[in-house]
Amino acid sequence: MLFNSGGVVSMFMPKTKKANKTLATWSAKDVSKGSRVLLRVDANIPLVHGEVDEHNLLRIRAAVPEIQRLLKRGARVIIATHLGRPHGRHVSALSTSVLANTFARELGRPVRWIAHVVGRKAEAAIARLKPGSVAMLENLRFEQGEEKDDEKFAQSLARLADVYVNDAFGVCHERHASVHAITKYLPSFAGELLLKEVRALRLPAKRPLVVVVGGAKIESKIPMLHKLGRHADAIIIGGGAALTFIAAAGGSFGFAADEFTQRDDVAEAKMLLRYYGDKIVLPRDLVASRLRKAVIDIGARSLRHASHILAEARTIVWNGPMGITEEPDGCFATLGVAWAIASNTSAYSIVGGGETVTFVESTGLIDRFSHVSTGGGAMLAFLADEPMPGIRVLEK
Ligand code: 3PG
Repeated sequence: MLFNSGGVVSMFMPKTKKANKTLATWSAKDVSKGSRVLLRVDANIPLVHGEVDEHNLLRIRAAVPEIQRLLKRGARVIIATHLGRPHGRHVSALSTSVLANTFARELGRPVRWIAHVVGRKAEAAIARLKPGSVAMLENLRFEQGEEKDDEKFAQSLARLADVYVNDAFGVCHERHASVHAITKYLPSFAGELLLKEVRALRLPAKRPLVVVVGGAKIESKIPMLHKLGRHADAIIIGGGAALTFIAAAGGSFGFAADEFTQRDDVAEAKMLLRYYGDKIVLPRDLVASRLRKAVIDIGARSLRHASHILAEARTIVWNGPMGITEEPDGCFATLGVAWAIASNTSAYSIVGGGETVTFVESTGLIDRFSHVSTGGGAMLAFLADEPMPGIRVLEK
């Protein structure tokens, strides 16, 4: 027996009355034949050689039902998404034109791609759309105003539509114009996917609650770990994140790991170890590649230990792979963790984050997870009760 804690933890339960509010949803009176609906989705997926990776379609497929619901009402659907982090610059490699083709295929109907985000040309292209048709805007993050939550940019976006629907859970933790400021200028509603995510992530967590964190983006996960640390019974750390923690605990690797041992991150990891050292589970062994001169996975002993902990969990939250899953020698522990979670049929299991979900899908185990989130950072932020500006503005 690894844990002696039972019961329910309120992590998934909104703590404030405000967070408990339901979200505004649209009904037949809000969307009629010919209504222009700006549908914010999160179709931010990594492109491979400029093309959509056919193994990474979760976010696109998850957006399809809401588009179809709107089309049934005869709406003119204008899909808007960000792609990558161009930070207000036009980066051709991050154009949404490739996404429009994939949406067209998934929907089984044409999607008219508009080479602009806002402005007269975009407005004119939308005016030419027939009721029951679909268009897609260029990358929202090509515009400086998007990440600044700029009012003027939000107003320009609002001029494109009569109604706004947010189905982009993956970006609701950001205060960006297309999920936040826009709601001041259009009747605004939550889409089905957003509602589904909120419902699934608000469930009370039965204990023991085990959080598994991997991947490389540790700096964005540290604030969440501070909050999740309070509620979790164990936090299993793998991937590049583990190297930061091992450095914080005074360990070294024999290989260069500069990317993961930035002074600020290590200092934060030290703080987490000080507060939650009894809950944080670090790898006991690592797998390194001579060729790459880098750590590529956590080792077999670490996986065995993690699997024991996961077998006793009643709630599991997982974000981030344990190793470099693109390498045949770097995916062993991630596969092992997927298997350990899938085998624990009495746990409520949540997996999120593009890389992790894509990997789990490739193993054929994805259906054994209770909830597959389209959010990575957003999922952790929501569970840690961080502000979710894109959701707050839709509360009734
Ligand atoms: C994600 O991929 O987590 C979301 O699309 C948000 O993207 P961001 O981390 O670039 O804000």
